[in-house]
Amino acid sequence: KVVKREAFGSRNVFILSAIGSAVGLGNIWRFPYVAYEGGGGAFLVPYLCALLTAGIPLLFLDYSIGHRFRGSAPLAFRRLNRKTEVLGWWQVLICVVIAVYYAAIIAWSTMYTAFSATLAWGKGNEETFFFSEFLQMGKPTDGVSFDYVPGVLWPMLGVWAVILVIMVLGVKKGIGMANNIFMPLLTVMFLIMVIQAVLLPGAMDGLNAFFTPNWEALKDPAVWASAYGHIFFSLSVAFGIMVTYSSYLKRKTDLTGSGLVVGFANSSFEILAGIGVFAALGFMAQASGQGVNDVASGGIGLAFVAFPTIASNAAGGSIIGMLFFGSLVFAGVTSLISILEVIVAAVQDKLGWARVKATLVVTIPIAIVSIVLFASTSGLFVLDITDAFINQFGIMAVAFVTVLVVAYGVRALPKLATHLNGRSTFKVGLIWRLLVGIVGPLALGYMLVSEIIAKTSKPYEGYPGGMLAVFGWGMVAAVIVLSVVLAMIPWGPNSKAKNDPEY
Ligand code: PHE
Ligand code: NA
Repeated sequence: KVVKREAFGSRNVFILSAIGSAVGLGNIWRFPYVAYEGGGGAFLVPYLCALLTAGIPLLFLDYSIGHRFRGSAPLAFRRLNRKTEVLGWWQVLICVVIAVYYAAIIAWSTMYTAFSATLAWGKGNEETFFFSEFLQMGKPTDGVSFDYVPGVLWPMLGVWAVILVIMVLGVKKGIGMANNIFMPLLTVMFLIMVIQAVLLPGAMDGLNAFFTPNWEALKDPAVWASAYGHIFFSLSVAFGIMVTYSSYLKRKTDLTGSGLVVGFANSSFEILAGIGVFAALGFMAQASGQGVNDVASGGIGLAFVAFPTIASNAAGGSIIGMLFFGSLVFAGVTSLISILEVIVAAVQDKLGWARVKATLVVTIPIAIVSIVLFASTSGLFVLDITDAFINQFGIMAVAFVTVLVVAYGVRALPKLATHLNGRSTFKVGLIWRLLVGIVGPLALGYMLVSEIIAKTSKPYEGYPGGMLAVFGWGMVAAVIVLSVVLAMIPWGPNSKAKNDPEY
């Protein structure tokens, strides 16, 4: 029996969901610091270059593949060419790894939204609270532990339960609805947070530090590489997400127009986050009598140490804390469901399963692995290693190979350009093909090589070799081997064109 393929309710819901996927933790805790380190206001130059010469062109590429071949990543790549199915599975498996740890950060943020109400960490105790009291973190040298922390385990179960419900409900009623509700909420909450931050004493020092251009930085190739690296990560291009989402669009849809909206919405959100985060850091610097440079940070330290400190000291600190962590939760959930959809759709297409069965069989094991690995006292280390290897390494590698194969292996760019132009207002031509075929692979290849050198020259962050072997290199190798195996499984009835009235 053939299951009818799902679809988004409308193009606007698709755009909102694509923005929901793109706007994630990276916008809030990664961009502000990357920009600050990369020359402040001057960073806008490499950033816009990366957005226009690589981010948006590759976004168009993802859309064209997903929409032209109307399938999950493995099916779309198989229809592109029988030999390229394995690329789709590679992307799916990267999504499996990301899904496993993304949920942990959402669970922490959920708890911190609640902690903000009473400033439960205690003034002056923010760092100890996070690492020792909340996560009950062990030592990295102790290796992987199976001592579970109830304060993390229960929230993770809760997060996975909510995610499971959204995924079971499907593309229209689950993913579309969730984005329809969460994205407007996220925007409003985040805007209020930014306004509150900008009004704090010292905020202007933070904004000056953030925007003052250091033109010297533009001479440093590492700054350009970090701009390109950030754009790939931020737009979630080339790992199956946009392929999957665009396969749920109607035949007649303006693809490039949608891509431009998504790309610029994501960037606007990043700039806004830069303003909010650095205004708050300016306040923190003033309150502690330090310079902005001494308190500037990104990632987990910014979110779970600096922001609680800011909330402890600011007037109306509980509100700023709740808005900040609530934003992390919504931004994270809308990204996590897009990651999971890549996997669910692939399993549905491959095995011919219905929505509910595929969702349960995919989500429950991933949830279990996620909780087993990240709710114990070694969760943070495993998360740090997995993130470093899959995000900076796995994503670059898969994007690099995909672009090369599509451009030169199967020479599909002219055909895909025709597909985009057949239905879009913004036309692509020679420039797009040059950007995707040359600028994209050059930027990705450069970053991939520098990552390989960085990761092989010394143990990442000094973690024990065994942990790096399993969660770093071992995971990268497992992803590659498994994708070849998965590509050999025979296809079920959902892969037939007749399951999709729009095909
Ligand atoms: N694009 C998201 C961000 O900027 C991150 C993300 C990565 C989302 C991978 C989905 C998958 O935060
Ligand atoms: Na983003």
